[in-house]
Amino acid sequence: MKDIRIAVLGLGWMGQAHSRSALRIPSLFPERDCNPRLVVCADTDAGRRARATADFGFERSTPDWQVAVAADDVDAVWVTAPNMLHLPMIEAATAAGKAVFSEKPIGGKPAQTVQAYAHAKAAGVATGVGYNYLWSPLVIHARELISSGALGEITHYRGRFLSMYGSDELGLLTWRFKMDEAGYGVSSDILSHSVAMAQYLAGGISEVVGMRNTTIPNRPLPTGVASHYGRGAPGDATGAVENEDFASMLCRFVNGATGTFEVSRTVVGPESQNAFEVYGTKGALSWNLEQINELKYYRKDADLNTGYTTIFGGDRFPFHGAFAPGQANSIGFEDLIAIEDFAFMQSLATGSGFQPGFAEAVDVVSVQQALIDSWESRSWETVHDLKVGL
Ligand SMILES: NC(=O)c1ccc[n+]([C@@H]2O[C@H](COP(=O)([O-])OP(=O)(O)OC[C@H]3O[C@@H](n4cnc5c(N)ncnc54)[C@H](O)[C@@H]3O)[C@@H](O)[C@H]2O)c1
Repeated sequence: MKDIRIAVLGLGWMGQAHSRSALRIPSLFPERDCNPRLVVCADTDAGRRARATADFGFERSTPDWQVAVAADDVDAVWVTAPNMLHLPMIEAATAAGKAVFSEKPIGGKPAQTVQAYAHAKAAGVATGVGYNYLWSPLVIHARELISSGALGEITHYRGRFLSMYGSDELGLLTWRFKMDEAGYGVSSDILSHSVAMAQYLAGGISEVVGMRNTTIPNRPLPTGVASHYGRGAPGDATGAVENEDFASMLCRFVNGATGTFEVSRTVVGPESQNAFEVYGTKGALSWNLEQINELKYYRKDADLNTGYTTIFGGDRFPFHGAFAPGQANSIGFEDLIAIEDFAFMQSLATGSGFQPGFAEAVDVVSVQQALIDSWESRSWETVHDLKVGL
């Protein structure tokens, strides 16, 4: 069993979720080659550091992430800070020879993701990226069905991530709404999840055209450390939202299929509708995070025309049995984080490769860059693989 000595940079929602994974992995996955050890955490907020050492059991904490990255007793660094800190953190971690698991989108702008990939490649370190929804057991099953030819030729893909996290006008102007801390808006934040999912299920995207919108232009300013879902009060001082609330695109896949994507953080109604529909010549699949334990499957050749049938999650699918035995005993959001962290640490312990890593993140931002170009040109743009030449 190999110790994986961990540093976590940023102790908000995701930093805590990954730290909790490290604590859960031994009991969830008794047959494993990796032994997670929470060595050091970094955050500028003293309260979060104190909680991380007291409640998660980190051996020590520091306000300076560079100290954590440089520590000799750290093997792997989890980057869970606001987007525009990803690249400097990754540059320092890879230069120190550490493996890096970074939350998506890896930087706030496509060029930063490409630079992160180049740093990791030059250093020869292992990388992982937090497209956690790819680890849903039913999404893995969907990919297996598609690869087996069960859907025939893929003709159309529909991806969307419609979230209400920013739909309240009194929702605070946190880092996500600011160019210097987040980079782009939903095209970085949640389109990254949708495009990663599409590439995982249906393959590469070759051309796109799209649009964007900002629907809530001003928000209350936070005082102190603000949560993702924090709320101000009427009359509070406000500041400007600097990036997009909405993005959509039409696309064509390399295999000839068509696709549509919609993402929003301000829409009212869908609370966290991270969803896809894949249509093929022999059938279709449909999944939605809001019903994470259900995969809908339509078979054209079914003896009776039953319409869509529901496949419930269960221990017949990969990883599910670690959390609950039998069928239709549900798993949830943080369980996907535990699965990805386990898979990444196993890959470090055994020396096997891990996907999705920074190369796959560049595939995602190659599409994002073409979308951004289309916002300016107002026309179709070819997707160029931004890894070429690196
Ligand atoms: N995969 C997912 O489902 C998912 C969900 C949410 C967020 N994310 C990603 O995770 C990352 C973090 O998002 P979050 O929601 O956890 O944010 P958050 O605001 O909850 O937490 C960010 C933390 O970083 C800390 N921080 C800020 N500046 C710092 C610095 N210089 N040094 C050290 N710490 C610093 C903050 O104090 C805060 O504790 C983002 O890149 C986001 O895109 C991914």
